[in-house]
Amino acid sequence: MFVSENLDVNSAGHLTIGGADTVELAKEYGTPLYVMDEQLIRDNLRRFHDSMNKYYDGKGEVHFAGKAFSCMEMCRIVADEGDGLDAVSIGELYTAFKAGFPMEKVGFHGNNKTDEELRFAVEHGVGHIIVDNISELQRLEKIAGDSGVRPNIMFRIKPGIDAHTHDFVKTGQIDSKFGFALETGEAFEAVKEAVSCENVNLYGLHCHIGSQIFDIAPFEEAARVMLGFISEIREKLGYEIEGLNLGGGFGIRYTEKDDPSPFETYLEKVSDVVKSECSRLGIKLPKMFIEPGRSIVASAGITLYTVGARKEIPNIRTYISIDGGMADSPRYILYGSEYDAIVANKADQDKTEKVTIAGRCCESGDLIGENMKLQHAESGDIIAVCATGAYNYSMSSNYNRLQKPAVVFVNNGASRIAVKRESLDDIIRNDI
Ligand code: LLP
Repeated sequence: MFVSENLDVNSAGHLTIGGADTVELAKEYGTPLYVMDEQLIRDNLRRFHDSMNKYYDGKGEVHFAGKAFSCMEMCRIVADEGDGLDAVSIGELYTAFKAGFPMEKVGFHGNNKTDEELRFAVEHGVGHIIVDNISELQRLEKIAGDSGVRPNIMFRIKPGIDAHTHDFVKTGQIDSKFGFALETGEAFEAVKEAVSCENVNLYGLHCHIGSQIFDIAPFEEAARVMLGFISEIREKLGYEIEGLNLGGGFGIRYTEKDDPSPFETYLEKVSDVVKSECSRLGIKLPKMFIEPGRSIVASAGITLYTVGARKEIPNIRTYISIDGGMADSPRYILYGSEYDAIVANKADQDKTEKVTIAGRCCESGDLIGENMKLQHAESGDIIAVCATGAYNYSMSSNYNRLQKPAVVFVNNGASRIAVKRESLDDIIRNDI
């Protein structure tokens, strides 16, 4: 009935998430409101790391991709589950550090890291720095030399895989701003240079082929390509690469049209490929890293809004306007991403209408979705947009000087605030 398994209806006919009544949450914390189900986040992390243990004999680490959803409470949960973190800016590193996250379990990404960021990563003992380009390698060699710490690095490689996903989130093919190309020899030259560096240790290779991918085959193919390169490095340079990071990108169910494979199947198949390729090529089994973001948090989140105006334009469409929009939920305007929505206080009723849910920003494209099936919605109703836990809070903005909503975590019916709603003073805090 619902796109995410943690949603249900209670005896009042209200939508629940993780056992908490969403209408009550809206009343208690106000709207717009991000709600995250802690139990589902933990379950998802466990499904990944348990499968890593089962199918890859525990020789791997799961690093949650913080870009999907980063705040201190999330870092604490990931740390508590014993998993690692993929961070992509000094802001994400700082969030983790302040939350007490074990920094040796952090991989630091970015295609254009600043010296300040590299220094922060080195000085805070980040586990791996995933180096994107030669000038970064050279700057890092110097920064590490100055600090006296010898960081582990991985190289971000473009394995040249087209994962058939949305153009904006395809990063594995040659025309990408991320990483070193294999087919031009660029990656091999970089490895040669890194091997001779004194102040960094070339530990591993990394690739990430895209996001919201349903098909397992491109992941298997990427693993084959990467292992082929590891084998080439061993043959030509006599250098053993120890770590293989296969990135994230596993698809989730946003609407009933989406049918992702279970994470377990992904890990089983990819582990099989890695093991069989290693024995075929006669190379050591690398330590394997994966970086799921969306698949950990998307289904665990919903966003709650209050309906304001209802505008019926005869023979055209009905607009339902809500008290949030593209500033807190930018994925429709950016990617045309579809979501499922429910009138939370009428969750036991049938969806009888097709509507456009419109945001409150001064911009016609500010929509949550079009042709969305919904219960009859009127002013004062609460709308829940489902599976918004990834790349909404993390990509939110203050457009129109709107205050960013609060983030609330629920767990078995109880709720607690994790990020406060911004105040009006927050809006002007840096204005002089
Ligand atoms: N690792 C690397 C190096 C990445 O670049 C990404 C995502 C991930 C892991 C996590 O991928 P996930 O498991 O979440 O698919 N803003 C877009 C998604 C951009 C993804 C960027 N990189 C969206 O809202 O769909």
